[in-house]
Amino acid sequence: MNFTNKNVIITGGSAGIGLATAKTFIEKGARVLITGRNTDSLQAASIDINSPNLKTLASDISKLTDIATLEKEVTESGTKVDVLVLNAGIAKQYSIEDTTEEVFDDLFNINVKGLFFTLQKLIPHLSEGASVILISSGVSVSGYAQMGAYAATKSAVDAIARTAATELADRKIRVNVVAPGLTDTPMNQQTPEDIKNAIAAAVPLKRIGEAEEIANAIVFLASSGASYISGSYLAVDGGVTIRR
Ligand SMILES: NC(=O)c1ccc[n+]([C@@H]2O[C@H](COP(=O)([O-])OP(=O)(O)OC[C@H]3O[C@@H](n4cnc5c(N)ncnc54)[C@H](OP(=O)(O)O)[C@@H]3O)[C@@H](O)[C@H]2O)c1
Repeated sequence: MNFTNKNVIITGGSAGIGLATAKTFIEKGARVLITGRNTDSLQAASIDINSPNLKTLASDISKLTDIATLEKEVTESGTKVDVLVLNAGIAKQYSIEDTTEEVFDDLFNINVKGLFFTLQKLIPHLSEGASVILISSGVSVSGYAQMGAYAATKSAVDAIARTAATELADRKIRVNVVAPGLTDTPMNQQTPEDIKNAIAAAVPLKRIGEAEEIANAIVFLASSGASYISGSYLAVDGGVTIRR
């Protein structure tokens, strides 16, 4: 897989799955723009990746003004976007009974509204034959306690992907979903080890995922090797969804 001269945008590329994906695309020759809210994290990612092919942009996906800034950056670059990875997201775990309006709004503003309008604003900038990958979660198609609002955001992501795959097919743009299972990233830093171990024990492959393993699936879907794959939902979860 060679991405030389390809332009890649990854929302939420300063940590976890987004950062691992940025590294993988850079290794394969792409020019990559990553976004995130925290400028220190973006700076750390830049030092970590250490490539002239990496650009960073502070942009909060939940703010339409920040999405406009991202669009302006793309317009001013004078280039088309070949790969768009809509990855930025947050997780909050509450039972339905305990979910406040603030928690619900935070989840939907970032995971759904932000993703939707980033896609909308960047559609005109996608090259013919571009690849769009939306990062969902295995919880979008299964039932887990404490995940009601988060799972609902990810089911919405799946629905947006299906519509986008249909609407953009005329331009030969492929749209796919990658649905990770529990993956070792900063998102799960607060999860106690015993809970991670219990989850790992329920995975057919008996471990949780690494960010690089999710990145490999994303890069594959962006590659010419996936040229006939659109509208798919790729679970990258060690087999957990077998049991759904
Ligand atoms: N890790 C898992 O177990 C797992 C499982 C299934 C699905 N996923 C999904 O995979 C995606 C990445 O998760 P991860 O585990 O890599 O998370 P992570 O380690 O917490 O990293 C999240 C990234 O998104 C950025 N971000 C968060 N909110 C943002 C916003 N409002 N605007 C722009 N950037 C934002 C973060 O930077 P800032 O905080 O600086 O903004 C960071 O770069 C998410 O959509 C998540 O739901 C993760």
